[in-house]
Amino acid sequence: MSEDAEFEPKEPGSVLYRASRQNYPHAVSASGMYIHDGEGRSYLDMSGGAAVTCLGHSHPDVIAALQQQIQSLTFAHTSFFTNAPQEQLAIRLTRHFGDDEAKVYFLSGGSEANETAFKLAWQYWVARGKPAKKIIISREHSYHGNTLGALSASGNTGRRRASAAPLLEWPRIEPCYAYREQRPDETLEDYSARAANTLQAAIDKHGSDQIAAFIAEPVVGSSLGVVPAAPGYFERIREICTANDILLIADEIMCGTGRTGHFFAHRHFNVRPDIVTLAKGIGGGYQPLAAVVLGATVANELENSGFAHGHTYVGHAVACAAGVAVLDVIEQDGLLARTRDLGVVLDSALRERFGLHEFVGDIRCKGLFAGVELVSDRESKSGFSDRPRLAEELRRAAMEEGLICYPGSVALDGEIVPHVLLAPPMIATASDIEDGVERLAGAIDRVFAVRSC
Ligand SMILES: Cc1ncc(COP(=O)(O)O)c(C=O)c1O
Repeated sequence: MSEDAEFEPKEPGSVLYRASRQNYPHAVSASGMYIHDGEGRSYLDMSGGAAVTCLGHSHPDVIAALQQQIQSLTFAHTSFFTNAPQEQLAIRLTRHFGDDEAKVYFLSGGSEANETAFKLAWQYWVARGKPAKKIIISREHSYHGNTLGALSASGNTGRRRASAAPLLEWPRIEPCYAYREQRPDETLEDYSARAANTLQAAIDKHGSDQIAAFIAEPVVGSSLGVVPAAPGYFERIREICTANDILLIADEIMCGTGRTGHFFAHRHFNVRPDIVTLAKGIGGGYQPLAAVVLGATVANELENSGFAHGHTYVGHAVACAAGVAVLDVIEQDGLLARTRDLGVVLDSALRERFGLHEFVGDIRCKGLFAGVELVSDRESKSGFSDRPRLAEELRRAAMEEGLICYPGSVALDGEIVPHVLLAPPMIATASDIEDGVERLAGAIDRVFAVRSC
């Protein structure tokens, strides 16, 4: 075909899609809570894709801010210049973090942000004269990204295996997952201390002089289906990290930027991490944007020694302008308080609809971040050994219902345990949420009707 030949769509297209042998509808427009496809179908976006579109689609304020930015400056390489959007956004994030001496480094996506966090940790320890501190401890059933370092730190066995990558085998501890791991003779507080103390055991085994950092999501997102840490867990983790000279990295790529009702999810616990990573919601899907917030301890050390790192699009002016605009809307429209209020609506709608559902084992909600865990038997909490693709079936059934939600699954003791993650935009109304929960019930019914046929 000559270069100027007219573009003719073909089926299947020339894109290497996420899943082969699947026909994706073409998304052609989107507004508010809905995405519209080329066949005239509309989908209620109850998960913001993967917890991305925190302000819904086509928010006029963000679009106006982007248009203005594009007209004045799109790109000036940050080896040569800084720019107003990244300066403004950095100051505002450090205010939310509550540390005037904190610094912020901007990237284009979550995996890059976690890679950067690891590199910060390594360079911090070199600057402190402890170059042997290289190991990153993480947790099982976690996801920190798809690049080599971030996937090495991820405990998501499915993604690790599928990548076929030569990953580093860093140690991982069990997650804090009370629904499955709390013993009947144990209080929640005792369980939470037991779960946190496994970090100390891992440190004792590998030696604190070899360990750079511990990374965890304050509220686990896609790997387990919204699992907030039990009370006291992160406080004990913080104590252990401090006592052993290990940096605490909070991966808030999914649960941060207001998703749980506080700007930073770690605020639900009485801790301050050394480094926090943000992505997804911070650009709201309007631009690819991620941020690494480094608290005073790391920031001051690296101010002196410098930070050897960089990607072409670090601190991109348009991406950071999207971040500023998203933050403006969150602050001006009181969306953190709204998220807390609507979280109560979401929690009760889910409990009302699924509280007694035969195949629903647990419902977990923190602000507008919710997980519904599916089981084949509520008593034994068993998963579905005979239906390994149940999460995919659910995703398709939801789309049939005109619903975007985010199903996933975890392999536990040889069984597949699926869950559905919901992360509705903070601009949702109570009736959008009720509508979404009804559509989800329709999707779950479809999937289990097939089973009983
Ligand atoms: C907690 C968490 N960390 C990191 C990532 C990786 O982010 P990205 O896909 O933007 O590279 C994700 C993505 O889902 C995530 O949920």
